[in-house]
Amino acid sequence: MAKQQRVLVTGATGNVGPHAVAQLLDAGVETRALVLENDPNSDRIPPGAEVFHGSLADPDSLDACLEGVDAVFLMWPFFTLDVDTVPAVLEKLEKHTRRVVFISSIGVHIGLEPVGNRCHAYLEQQIEKTSLEWTFLQTTGFACNTRIGWAAQLKESGVMRSPYGEAARSPIHEADVAAVAVRALTRDGHAGRRYVVTGPEALPQIDQLAVIAEVTGRDLRWEDVPADAAKAAMVEVGWPESYAAGALDYFAMLVKEPETVTDHVAQVLGRAPRTFREWVTEHADDFR
Ligand SMILES: NC(=O)c1ccc[n+]([C@@H]2O[C@H](COP(=O)([O-])OP(=O)(O)OC[C@H]3O[C@@H](n4cnc5c(N)ncnc54)[C@H](OP(=O)(O)O)[C@@H]3O)[C@@H](O)[C@H]2O)c1
Repeated sequence: MAKQQRVLVTGATGNVGPHAVAQLLDAGVETRALVLENDPNSDRIPPGAEVFHGSLADPDSLDACLEGVDAVFLMWPFFTLDVDTVPAVLEKLEKHTRRVVFISSIGVHIGLEPVGNRCHAYLEQQIEKTSLEWTFLQTTGFACNTRIGWAAQLKESGVMRSPYGEAARSPIHEADVAAVAVRALTRDGHAGRRYVVTGPEALPQIDQLAVIAEVTGRDLRWEDVPADAAKAAMVEVGWPESYAAGALDYFAMLVKEPETVTDHVAQVLGRAPRTFREWVTEHADDFR
């Protein structure tokens, strides 16, 4: 009989982590969830996972949850944690496990994220230096960004005020990011691969809004605002300034050239990624 696999999921209360936990459990994998002590979001972790308290800010807190683990689903909470502990965290991973799947960004793929930004490219560089079997998911914007960034405004006024309505992204369903991760965590053949994880089509933001309007039956409108005002608002809610500026520059670029769409999800999963419309249909109530 094949050995029971054991996987640790970081960010288990985030956007992708709960999907990864649920899919690993469905696949019969013994699944551990890393959660901060007293985390108010613990109820997002699907039942059946073994919960371990620890923090990426405190590498010694990881020993217990890494004991006997075959693979780690790694995300880095860049908005709330700097990267000073990355080398020590990776040492812990090397000591206890052999495989890591890291959620990186499409920004690395297109060269918009230099290593010096100490963000996804830096993590990739540090992981590559280890002896771990790694797979990087260079991921486009999650579909849930619309819920996080748009839903409150839309509920209040029906108007989305943001820059670059014509910018075309290829949003990916968070469950599909998790599905690719789960394959790479649990099956061979993905080591040393950088998958550019995108949705099936590039949709201008105004068209994404039109999908939300159609699915929810609401009258919604886009209003372009200057990028500077948007940057100030992003910084106010916690975005590092260089990150906000980089994101806005990227959106300006996507007005002229739609975001890349790859077939990497289909290559790994043997099926197309879910559409933005499918995601909105599942989450329609969040926009009403
Ligand atoms: N959103 C996008 O469009 C996009 C696109 C490409 C790549 N990414 C990358 O994807 C990753 C985010 O994934 P996500 O959206 O699933 O996560 P998320 O929703 O941003 O949540 C962050 C997770 O990290 C946990 N966390 C915070 N501080 C921690 C610490 N010190 N130690 C351990 N865990 C900690 C949070 O716990 P609590 O919040 O419960 O405290 C939460 O589970 C980021 O690295 C981001 O850069 C995102």
